[in-house]
Amino acid sequence: MFDFITEEHEMIRQAARDFAQKSIAPIAEHHDQTGEFPLATVRQMGQLGFMGIEVPEAYNGAGMDTLAYVLAMEEISKVDASHGTIMSVNNSLVCHGLMKYGTEEQKRNYLAAIAGGQKIGAYSLTEPMSGSDAGTMASRAVLNPAGTHYIINGRKSWVTSAPYADIIVLFTMTQPEKKHRGVTAFIVETDKPGFSRGKTEPKLGIRASATSEIMFDNYECPVENRLGEEGDGFKIAMSVLDAGRIGIASQALGIATAALEASVSYAREREAFGQKIGQFQMIQQKLADMKCRVEASRLLIYQAALAKMAAAKGGGRYTMEASMAKLYASETAMWVTTQAIQIHGGMGYSKEMPLERYFRDAKITEIYEGTSEIQRMVIARSLTGLR
Ligand code: CAA
Repeated sequence: MFDFITEEHEMIRQAARDFAQKSIAPIAEHHDQTGEFPLATVRQMGQLGFMGIEVPEAYNGAGMDTLAYVLAMEEISKVDASHGTIMSVNNSLVCHGLMKYGTEEQKRNYLAAIAGGQKIGAYSLTEPMSGSDAGTMASRAVLNPAGTHYIINGRKSWVTSAPYADIIVLFTMTQPEKKHRGVTAFIVETDKPGFSRGKTEPKLGIRASATSEIMFDNYECPVENRLGEEGDGFKIAMSVLDAGRIGIASQALGIATAALEASVSYAREREAFGQKIGQFQMIQQKLADMKCRVEASRLLIYQAALAKMAAAKGGGRYTMEASMAKLYASETAMWVTTQAIQIHGGMGYSKEMPLERYFRDAKITEIYEGTSEIQRMVIARSLTGLR
């Protein structure tokens, strides 16, 4: 149907589908209930190339493109959104950032291990008092008098995968008086003195993905681990989030598709008042609207993936396309999972079926990597050119 989806794309889609069905489906409920991080399956995803899909093979990645990434993300997230979160952060926020802004040495030292899944990556922008307003941060990095190390102090919050991350791409202030132009990015190794983690956050959804605060107490970061130039951090953070938002849109699409498919099956089997509930117009209306929103999300995601691929070749930004895909797919996931529970009635509300997990998992897609309100702001600003 879409001639830009090649045989190679179909192969990675199938590989992700098979892996998700065989290895993730049997453990998803257990990890949701216990909140245990699924380290074994994450390592296997690395071996299969899912942790660095767009990273060239020379750096241990799968050497594929953004379409391959969104197709695989959808399949993994359709079975378990927690695995999707870990995969998305590793691919988009870490590998993509290191690919785009890293030096050759940084790529050799860090990217290869992260892309191959031997090490886990995280991205840290948010602070207790700086969420949507990402340019205002209290943490600081100060270059030592010898000019060899930055001394980092402060606290960052809501860091996905932080409890297990080996490497964190950190954004912190080097020149606070310059506001967002004073933010700098660093590659932080988590096994060094001065780094510590707070408690793992108990969350409503994506419970198997581990999230925590991280703390820096005179952490010494070598100058070679600065990512980009001093003061480039905010733009690096934003451009990396453009890629990340396509990943989260694909995660939302996976969740919505799972909820839709379950609802269609249920509507074909469940009977009430002497007929299948799928024969009632009120159920038909829900299913039809769910399908339209799911497919519209898919098209916005393909558009964003193609725009990112075009930008990789010819330069330019794909900010609006990424925000449109993220906004629409995440609101679709929330709406579709709500309808799916309604169609399933009591069974949808029960933990015996995964519908309530889809519903809980969907909510975060409207919040992280930029809330729906922020996406609307980004889209409107792109349209009008006004700030
Ligand atoms: N790419 C490149 N540059 C960009 C950019 C982009 N997408 N967006 C903005 N910029 C540049 C602008 O061109 C501008 O450059 P100049 O300094 O040269 O003028 C600069 O960055 C500042 O831009 P704005 O004035 O638009 O900045 P702002 O302060 O108004 O903020 C915002 C814009 C859209 C609200 C932004 O702060 C934002 O996206 N906030 C949400 C943050 C977010 O998504 N946080 C999630 C963190 S990650 C996470 O969720 C956890 C996880 O682990 C998954």
